[in-house]
Amino acid sequence: MADLFLSMKSVSKRYTGVQALDRIDFEISKGEIHGLVGENGSGKSTLIKIISGVEQPDEGARIEIEGQAFKHYQSIDSILKGIEVIYQDLSLFPNLTVAENISLSQTIASRSRFISWRRVNDIAERAMARIGIQIPLDEMVNDLSIADQQLVAICRALTSDVKLLILDEPTTALTKKEVEALFTVIKDLQSKEITTLFVSHKLNEVLQIAERVTILRDGKKIGTFPSRDLTDERLTFLMTGEKVEYSPYEIEEPQGVPLLEVRRLSKRGNFKDINFKLFPGEILGITGLLGSGRTELAQALFGMNRAESGDILIQGRKITIRSVQEAMSQGIGYVPENRMVQGLVMQQSVANNIVITILHRLINKLKMIDRNKKKDCINSRIEELSIRTPATDAAVQTLSGGNQQRVVLAKWIGTDPKIFIMDGPTIGIDVAAKSSIHEIIRNLAIQGVGIIVISDEVSEVFHNCNRIMVMHKGRIIAEFNTSRTSEEEIQDYINMAS
Ligand SMILES: Nc1ncnc2c1ncn2[C@@H]1O[C@H](COP(=O)(O)OP(=O)(O)OP(=O)(O)O)[C@@H](O)[C@H]1O
Ligand SMILES: [Mg+2]
Repeated sequence: MADLFLSMKSVSKRYTGVQALDRIDFEISKGEIHGLVGENGSGKSTLIKIISGVEQPDEGARIEIEGQAFKHYQSIDSILKGIEVIYQDLSLFPNLTVAENISLSQTIASRSRFISWRRVNDIAERAMARIGIQIPLDEMVNDLSIADQQLVAICRALTSDVKLLILDEPTTALTKKEVEALFTVIKDLQSKEITTLFVSHKLNEVLQIAERVTILRDGKKIGTFPSRDLTDERLTFLMTGEKVEYSPYEIEEPQGVPLLEVRRLSKRGNFKDINFKLFPGEILGITGLLGSGRTELAQALFGMNRAESGDILIQGRKITIRSVQEAMSQGIGYVPENRMVQGLVMQQSVANNIVITILHRLINKLKMIDRNKKKDCINSRIEELSIRTPATDAAVQTLSGGNQQRVVLAKWIGTDPKIFIMDGPTIGIDVAAKSSIHEIIRNLAIQGVGIIVISDEVSEVFHNCNRIMVMHKGRIIAEFNTSRTSEEEIQDYINMAS
């Protein structure tokens, strides 16, 4: 048996009301690439926080790293052992530049009071060169896309003398090309005996990169299996105990006045000459590579990024959308790509986040918030979206990543939009929950809502939309009717265009 880098026995962690981990035994061999999967809230991030010493396990746990046993294992121990974590929320400093973020730990480690900018830039450049990317060094991290922020976080981890690299969902916002680049880095690190623990909901990626996979369900370990013995389906089954099946979304040829029509919509550097119609009951997919202008277009329709020319019509009437309020009053709802920043007030309760967009509707004759109505509304959303929270007044930041995303969806579904634009509605959401969100999208469409789903997963748009538009460099370059094409055809088309 290969040398162990890490061995944990009987690790449990209880938070008020939740058993996040229940007597987990977990081992990682030296130099291996190990996958960790499980549904939202199954305990993955908690396990990682224990490995990095950020959280302490409950009594009875034993932790050994490179054969050394620890009594009170803490952050400092993990740092000294060369364990680097890239957390789900990235933990970057938004107000520092790219170069500063990447080189921060090195700059601190050097203990010099004098900061050499050349050195800062050098460190950052070298880290970026390692994974073959270029992001402007003096750009504020705040202004970067999520994909670029993820890459910055990865670069930062690569600057130190890392022995175990832990990636908690590192690829949620990356394109295929960037994921391939990241995998090359991980393989390259492996050839230097560096161990990787890789967490992702994209099971095909996990199976591609990891040699062994550990599966958690409800805080319990289901098992550790060699990847070659697993398939997507089997993994899904082990995670959920259920089979997930797809059926295509088909509707009759829409007629009449479109809910939304866009004519020659343009904005320099963003998108150009966009024309399309969206009918009630339609689920229109927009796919294309990152940076294709999809998000900018969505934001233009939601009043966050005004178009320079062209027209937007709602139910046949020309309108201007100058602000989010105007968009909402036209019946438009929007699930942003970057939910952590744009979607939630993290310190606030689940309940407050859900009702924040509809408070005005909960006011009774006495001009007070109708408590019962509020409670009903919150409970039905939590049930509908199976949000896993110990209580409705728990702070959103204590929920697992995927459950936070469901809160964002809940918040917007509550506004009863006529037109619903969703940018990456299932980023970071596990397979089972994903299909329940797809179900919700479908039900909204069946009730007559017009929905736009933006996603770079072709399979996601293919299985859920009746129509798909492909964007590339700010333009719509193709449109497909899903009942008349195959997923491969669309994928091939995108590969050729890029
Ligand atoms: N600080 C905390 N306080 C209370 N409960 C917590 C805290 N952190 C995590 N939990 C709970 O522990 C459970 C496991 O959460 P964890 O974040 O480990 O899930 P996960 O597997 O990483 O999920 P995801 O795929 O959604 O990121 C969840 O039920 C979560 O709500
Ligand atoms: Mg997590």
